[in-house]
Amino acid sequence: MRKKIVAGNWKMNTLPAEGVELAKGVVAGRGEVCSCVNFIVCPPFTHLAMVAEALKGSDVALGAQDCATEAKGAYTGEIAASMIAALGCKYVILGHSERRQYYGETSATLNKKMAQAYANGLIPIYCVGENLDEREAGKHFDVVKAQIEEVVYNLTEEQYKNLVIAYEPVWAIGTGKTASAEQAQEIHAYIRQVLTAKFGAAAQETAILYGGSCKPSNAAEIFAKEDVDGGLIGGAALKAEDFLAIGKGFS
Ligand code: G3H
Repeated sequence: MRKKIVAGNWKMNTLPAEGVELAKGVVAGRGEVCSCVNFIVCPPFTHLAMVAEALKGSDVALGAQDCATEAKGAYTGEIAASMIAALGCKYVILGHSERRQYYGETSATLNKKMAQAYANGLIPIYCVGENLDEREAGKHFDVVKAQIEEVVYNLTEEQYKNLVIAYEPVWAIGTGKTASAEQAQEIHAYIRQVLTAKFGAAAQETAILYGGSCKPSNAAEIFAKEDVDGGLIGGAALKAEDFLAIGKGFS
């Protein structure tokens, strides 16, 4: 039985006090959703300590949105994986399309970040996905395959057991456009096939999340698909009631 996960990527939103209120709202309403759903919130770095405090005593896990390629040293502005782990993070989002697109993250960068995450006991939520041109050219399968082969294939079997994948079609992120449940299932099944080619039966245990304008009104249909194990939620994670309602999408 694969883990069901609803992870909130707050991106660069909320001030610290607002983030704490949001986290408290998630904790307060969490009991209304099946305990089989694993909730994760990923606030900006600046809020991690305070949000960790707000989550204390709950089963809502904390994640960060990125980490540095290096362990420590003269890297002004960077945040090491050890630092976010010390603040109570269990997860770290790596390879989000916004990082790839706006900050030039490549597979080479991401291999280093993955190594840092594992060295510090963090579970990466590794993001893959194609942009609109690639989808329209029918290249989406090749794009996600390369993103997996160039990074995930470098993991040891032991590391691979602690990995979450998020499939996020760039054309659906923050656009209000959502992949149809069928489109999501098609590519999630393909991703699992690519993972199976390297890691065998272990790929059956890997949670593959859908991300891209996922909201309370469409979550249930998408999550009902066999190879969709939850969501990585952006905009709708900024309201506790919407975020929790997405969790109710699991039947
Ligand atoms: O990480 C989350 C995704 O980029 C989805 O964002 O739900 O605002 O479309 P969105």
